[in-house]
Amino acid sequence: MIKKAIILSGGMGTRMSPITKAVNKQLLPIYDKPLIYYPLSILMLAKIKDVLIIVNKGQLNQYKKLLPDGKNLGINIVYKEQSYPKGLPDAFLLGEKFINKSNVALILGDNFFYGQSLSNTLKNCINIKNGAKVILHKVSKPELFGVAKIKNKNKIVSIKEKPKKFFSDLAITGLYFFDKNVVKYAKELKPSKRGELEITDLLNKYRKKNKLSAEFIGRGGAWLDTGSIEDFYNTSAFVSNIEKRQGLKIACLEEIALNNKWIGKKDILNSIKFYGNCEYSNYLKKISL
Ligand code: DAU
Repeated sequence: MIKKAIILSGGMGTRMSPITKAVNKQLLPIYDKPLIYYPLSILMLAKIKDVLIIVNKGQLNQYKKLLPDGKNLGINIVYKEQSYPKGLPDAFLLGEKFINKSNVALILGDNFFYGQSLSNTLKNCINIKNGAKVILHKVSKPELFGVAKIKNKNKIVSIKEKPKKFFSDLAITGLYFFDKNVVKYAKELKPSKRGELEITDLLNKYRKKNKLSAEFIGRGGAWLDTGSIEDFYNTSAFVSNIEKRQGLKIACLEEIALNNKWIGKKDILNSIKFYGNCEYSNYLKKISL
């Protein structure tokens, strides 16, 4: 059972400059809340309460203003700074103490997931004891992602990072589940030609040992990008449409914590005070009645 997770929430956001010059990308809004709320909500839906957020050097205070320590959500949030973007597996080198020989999940701070089957998929993933698991989703532009070829439903036979030539249209989403060997394997990695530690190299270590399997988000679920300004608008429109139609919020962290029975109504009142007079607080008032 996986009880710990890392959110990799640094990066320079260069593709979105000048917006990201002073503010980290994951603190920018997807419709009515900061982007980081969405990956954090996924971890909370997976019932993970112990979270390490890795942020860019110099941006810790921005994050702590928004998510100080997780107490208001009944969870535990700690932080670690990354000096510069060294690649996704750096999360396990920076997180070695936090991981402390447990199994661990990693979610990229800029990934957005939505769909009814998600809770079941997450349940299957956090139950891994040995090996690693990734979540795959069919995409129309596989050249933009890490992609995987599969056999016998969920056995991964081959993976590639952003292949120029068509290889598979199953993208590897930014949500990964690993056994405790992940730190040892991450330490063995060497930077690639582009100078970064590659997540595909780490996954390949598990694949070569026949220990890499896949779960899927089918066509009834959404995995959206937030890599460019256009993506921010499109993902915001998606959230806005669903929230307005249902009158329910996607990724309201306090609501998930309340449903998980990690916090009570008194904590919600404290959160309302924390956020002040705003639409998000009005929603919290509604759910705490
Ligand atoms: O979104 C899924 C994709 O994420 C996967 O399909 C790819 O296999 C994987 O390599 C990754 O590709 P990206 O090109 O999207 O990775 P990017 O460098 O944009 O980083 C993703 C997030 O992680 C972003 O929010 C910044 C953060 N990050 C990234 C690196 C390399 C860090 O915080 N530190 C880092 O060192």
